[in-house]
Amino acid sequence: MPDYALTVNEPVEVEEIVRLARSVGRPWVDPERVPRMLASADCYLARRDDGRLVGLATLVSDGAFMAYAQHVWVSPDCHGLGIGRAMMERMIRDCENKGYLGLGLFADPEAVDFYGRFGFEPVKNKGYQALIRDLARPTGGQDHE
Ligand SMILES: CC(C)(COP(=O)(O)OP(=O)(O)OC[C@H]1O[C@@H](n2cnc3c(N)ncnc32)[C@H](O)[C@@H]1OP(=O)(O)O)[C@@H](O)C(=O)NCCC(=O)NCCS
Repeated sequence: MPDYALTVNEPVEVEEIVRLARSVGRPWVDPERVPRMLASADCYLARRDDGRLVGLATLVSDGAFMAYAQHVWVSPDCHGLGIGRAMMERMIRDCENKGYLGLGLFADPEAVDFYGRFGFEPVKNKGYQALIRDLARPTGGQDHE
């Protein structure tokens, strides 16, 4: 039995998100902007039985055709427990239920095989090129997901 619970869009403290982000090497996640993220994205939250936030995945969409997974983070001390899988499977199911045509994401090189387990493949296989235009990032950092 999993000793964590997965919920969607349940209340979460900004500090919990920042702590989890720090634990997976996302120092650019600043507390000032986290509330805007929480207001704009569907947030999948995994909590251990003691209430500790150990997983976050966020989903944004146009509400009709396409959705994008932004952050998929699992606390390092909880890797390998199936939390990332549970969040991805729930996210994919929700997107399917909403009739979206595709779910996209940017993957860290070391996470590409993780996503491959859920059917994600390079966009070039579909004849597309992934493009990004970097914008000012006052807090620094290189990660986009
Ligand atoms: C990638 C990450 C989300 C995986 O979360 P997790 O909870 O440890 O993954 P799970 O335990 O659910 O693993 C599910 C399956 O994927 C496999 N897997 C996990 N991480 C993997 C990786 N980096 N590469 C390939 N396979 C991986 C597991 O072995 C497991 O396989 P199984 O179902 O056959 O047993 C987690 O390692 C993480 O948060 N990393 C740091 C942040 C990050 O890189 N996020 C992705 C950004 S693009």
